[in-house]
Amino acid sequence: MGHNLLKGKKGIIFGALDERSIAWKTALRCVEEGAEIVLTNAPIALRMGEINKLAEVCKAPVIPADVTSMEDLDNLFTQTKAHFGGGVDFILHSIGMSLNVRKGIAYTEANYDFMHKTMDISAMSLHRVLQTAMKHDAINEWGSVVALTYIAAQRVFPDYNEMADAKSLLESISRSFGYHYGVKKKVRVNTISQSPTVTTAGSGVKGFDGFVMYAEKMSPLGNANADQCADYTVTLFSDMTRMVTMQNLFHDGGFSFTGVTNAVIEQMEK
Ligand SMILES: NC(=O)c1ccc[n+]([C@@H]2O[C@H](COP(=O)([O-])OP(=O)(O)OC[C@H]3O[C@@H](n4cnc5c(N)ncnc54)[C@H](O)[C@@H]3O)[C@@H](O)[C@H]2O)c1
Repeated sequence: MGHNLLKGKKGIIFGALDERSIAWKTALRCVEEGAEIVLTNAPIALRMGEINKLAEVCKAPVIPADVTSMEDLDNLFTQTKAHFGGGVDFILHSIGMSLNVRKGIAYTEANYDFMHKTMDISAMSLHRVLQTAMKHDAINEWGSVVALTYIAAQRVFPDYNEMADAKSLLESISRSFGYHYGVKKKVRVNTISQSPTVTTAGSGVKGFDGFVMYAEKMSPLGNANADQCADYTVTLFSDMTRMVTMQNLFHDGGFSFTGVTNAVIEQMEK
């Protein structure tokens, strides 16, 4: 049930691939809370056609954009402004991709062409989105931008591979651009550091099921799921969190500050 937390607000949602996507769930929650949205994803992802189902439910246009293309982003913001007749109040950056991970290449043997692509798609893209938005003056005052990240940016999770480096860069860009956009237009930029979640991107990580089970046992509240992540994101898009910016916000059931749990000790003693 909605609470009209986003009544009258307009936003762009990047990264809804299928029903499991965090962006998919967030799009639904935003609309439920009274927002109007534009959906976008890479042209290749749109070819799957899944997003049209979401677009129908959300009554949202779908505008293709590969986040590594400035031309695509330029077109996205031009079309979005025309669609809404003005700027937006929120943007969700829910994008990640690593060819080294996809091809099972070990961190120590990274292919650097792939690594460039990973950094561009998964991290620099936030800079590209914010720069283009700023150029178009496309985010309204007190607007809110959220990007999704993972705790491998701070601590080593060996099989998360180069995505850990990409997430560190993403979080840094969120802080740095958050400063500039805050001063210029009171736009806030934050990252949400989410529990491991079963999605297409998540399941691509080697040993993912073990990851999920370990995190579940290491979190006093258990893992946060994608629906709960969508709820949390809505609060960050709402006016209830206006003074929150440049933060990396853990949404992980307490995992990030837990040293060990009885559940893990019991498992070790088996
Ligand atoms: N699933 C998890 O365990 C988990 C945990 C923490 C953070 N995250 C982060 O959440 C975000 C969303 O991932 P998800 O788990 O919902 O998986 P997902 O696979 O559903 O979403 C990833 C999205 O990135 C899009 N994308 C890839 N390349 C692109 C490009 N060049 N241009 C535009 N879009 C592109 C894909 O099309 C897809 O929609 C990612 O940043 C991911 O790293 C996921």
